[in-house]
Amino acid sequence: MYICICKAITDKQLEDAHKAGKTFKEACRLLGIGSECGTCLTDAWENLKRSQNQRQEQKSE
Ligand code: FES
Repeated sequence: MYICICKAITDKQLEDAHKAGKTFKEACRLLGIGSECGTCLTDAWENLKRSQNQRQEQKSE
């Protein structure tokens, strides 16, 4: 799913950058998320947090 339309960045790309050790801010800077209109930043942050929570729930099961 696209999380940044301006840069055509998907949630998977953001997750992969985060899994590789980048902070949210670093990943956004690297991928260009929020660098155009900026309207995607809140949704991108919430999407990443939701993915992290899902991964933690899967680990604890
Ligand atoms: S949608 Fe991400 S910068 Fe515009």
